[in-house]
Amino acid sequence: MNIILLGPPGAGKGTQAARLVERHGMRQLSTGDMLRAAVAAQTPIGIEAKAVMDRGELVSDEIVSALIDAELLAMGVDVGAIFDGYPRTAEQAEQLDAILAKHGRKLGRVIEIEVDEDELVRRIVGRYTCATCGEGYHDQFKQPKTAGTCDKCGGTAFKRRKDDNEETVRTRMAEYRAKTAPTLPLYEARGIVSRVDGMAPIDAVSAAVEAALANA
Ligand code: AP5
Ligand code: MG
Repeated sequence: MNIILLGPPGAGKGTQAARLVERHGMRQLSTGDMLRAAVAAQTPIGIEAKAVMDRGELVSDEIVSALIDAELLAMGVDVGAIFDGYPRTAEQAEQLDAILAKHGRKLGRVIEIEVDEDELVRRIVGRYTCATCGEGYHDQFKQPKTAGTCDKCGGTAFKRRKDDNEETVRTRMAEYRAKTAPTLPLYEARGIVSRVDGMAPIDAVSAAVEAALANA
C-alpha cells in the first residue's frame, strides 16, 4: 500500500514511518531527509534549498516532486511507499496524483497525525540524533542510557537540525497551516483520511496507525 503521513512539524511522521518500515518492509520517502542529504552533499538542489529550509519556508514544488518521482522510479512497484512530509501544497498533491498514475501506484490511505502546537515546539526544540546511525533522542524525553553514547550503535557524535529552533519552528507551523492543511479536504472527499491522536505515547500512536491501515 502507498500512504501519506500528514501532520505539522514534530507530529511524529518520521518516528511512525520508521516503525512502518520495520514492520511492513515499506519504504520511507521523506522529502525533508532527501533535501537535507542534498544540502550536506552540496548538490545544486541542496545549494538552492538550504536558505529556504533554514528559514522554515517551503522548497519549490517542482524540486520536491522531481525527487519523489526519481525515488519511485528506482523502487519495485510491490514495495509500499510512505510519503513523509510530501505533499505539502495543493500543487504537490496534484503532482503526486500524476506521479502515482505514471508509476502504476494507488494511494491507499492518508494518515493525519494531530498534535497541539505547544507540544510540537517542545518536541522539536529538544530533539537531536546520533550522527552515525540517525537514532533519535530528546533532551527531556529520551536521553541515551549512557550519557554521550548512542544506545543503538555506540556512536559518540550527535547532531541537531539547523531548523530546529523556536523561531523557525513557528514559521514551519505557519507554512503547514497555510499550505499543507488545506490539502486535507481533497483526500477527505476521496474517503481515505484517518486521524490519529499524536499526543499519545509513541507505541499508542503506532497502534492507531496500524488500525487505520488494517481498515483501509
Ligand atoms: P521535514 O524534514 O519534513 O520536517 P517537518 O515536517 O517540519 O517535520 P519533522 O521532521 O520536524 O517532524 P516529524 O513529524 O517527522 O516528527 P518526528 O518523528 O521527528 O521538512 C523540513 C524542511 O524541508 C521544511 O521546513 C521545508 O523547508 C523542506 N521540505 C521538506 N519537504 C518539503 C516539501 N514536500 N515541499 C517543500 N519543502 C519541503 O518527531 C519529533 C520529535 O518528537 C522527536 O524527538 C520524536 O522522538 C518525538 N516524538 C514523536 N512522536 C512522539 C510521541 N507520540 N510522543 C512523544 N514524543 C514523540
Ligand atoms: Mg521528519
